[in-house]
Amino acid sequence: MNNLNQQNKNWKSKRKILLGISGGIAAYKIPYLVREIRKLNCEVEIIMTDSAKNFVTPMTLSTLSGRKVFTDSDFDFTIPHVNLTQWAEIFVVAPCTANTLGKFANGISDNLLTSAFTAANIPVIVFPAMNENMFDNPSTQKNLEILSKRGVTVVNPSYGDLACGISGRGRMPEPDEIMKEVLRVLSPVHDMAGKKVLITAGPTHEYIDPVRYISNPSSGKMGVAMARSAWYRGAEIKIIAGSVEIDSYGFEVIKVKSALEMFEAVKNNFEWADYIVMAAAVGDYRAKEFHAHKIKREGKGDFILELTQNPDIAAEIGKIKNDKILIGFAAETQNLIENAVSKLERKNLDYILVNDVLAENSGFQSDFNTLRLIDRDKNEFLFSGLKEDIAFEVLGNVIR
Ligand SMILES: Cc1cc2nc3c(=O)[nH]c(=O)nc-3n(C[C@H](O)[C@H](O)[C@H](O)COP(=O)(O)O)c2cc1C
Repeated sequence: MNNLNQQNKNWKSKRKILLGISGGIAAYKIPYLVREIRKLNCEVEIIMTDSAKNFVTPMTLSTLSGRKVFTDSDFDFTIPHVNLTQWAEIFVVAPCTANTLGKFANGISDNLLTSAFTAANIPVIVFPAMNENMFDNPSTQKNLEILSKRGVTVVNPSYGDLACGISGRGRMPEPDEIMKEVLRVLSPVHDMAGKKVLITAGPTHEYIDPVRYISNPSSGKMGVAMARSAWYRGAEIKIIAGSVEIDSYGFEVIKVKSALEMFEAVKNNFEWADYIVMAAAVGDYRAKEFHAHKIKREGKGDFILELTQNPDIAAEIGKIKNDKILIGFAAETQNLIENAVSKLERKNLDYILVNDVLAENSGFQSDFNTLRLIDRDKNEFLFSGLKEDIAFEVLGNVIR
């Protein structure tokens, strides 16, 4: 058992966030962002431009943040532009208008928000949101390039329905997505920057006929937690997901159904990856024969289904792994450690994470888990808590 990584525990809460809001229509989403920030038990101070007040009221925002909201009428001898940026750990500007971007890029400090930007000596993350033509305008593009080169994190808008009635690029991410980007910047370590992580997650569906399949209750939450934690630590992520809805923001997702499809997808992306995390609950067996039409029960008694083994994806990848780091999972109901060590050796894994699926508040579908990480030297580390928190700690051990 080990308490390494304790220093990184709870790094998402009690953070100090300065939020700047400029006058774009996407400002209507910001009250929800403030709630997301408060849900994480973080503190937030808000600066609004005069124009932003046309889209969302200071009263709404101060009620949700529990603090006074700063506007240009507060830009006085109390020097809020300096004090707020000294108080905060990160400066988030959402939405960031074409106008405010232009001022940021060119040192123009003619209001409280732009002056705070010029005074800020902390990480800054901006979320430009505007009509597609405004975004594509060469001045906007030049300003974004200048800001990126100066170390500002720019999160480009995505495609979607815009307030001006057309579909295009210009949509600000949703509040929960903004929060993920903010946490990525705030992560205490970025030790996986430049690393590529391939993760399998969720259950496989082994179809018997077009309407029936054999599966298991995996929710994909542990795989996604590993993906999210690696992403916070700076990695690029590809998820091969079985038949389950997953939180995929920031990841490339490859959807598969069966174990055979998952195996193909893993082989196709094997070369790309530095780390391969096999968190999917892959069916060991599939129907020997797939019935092209729905099996009818009329005129039949018992129905005997013959099964055949699926490839063991982890073991097959273990044979060709070279210098890649392979992390496997074992869901066990008895002899946890013995079974896990035998799997680690048999499949040539670097690490195995074993969970007791019969334990309460743990395993399939739960947001919580208790996991043992075992390495090749048979060292054993115990992790317990929210899946996303323990995934972060597990990766800390693996990186070390
Ligand atoms: C209804 C309406 C919606 C607007 N939406 C946007 C927008 O989404 N993005 C943007 O860059 N500008 C938008 N503008 C233009 C800005 O409000 C305008 O450039 C303003 O000067 C920005 O001021 P600020 O950057 O100080 O907040 C919009 C204007 C109006 C009237």
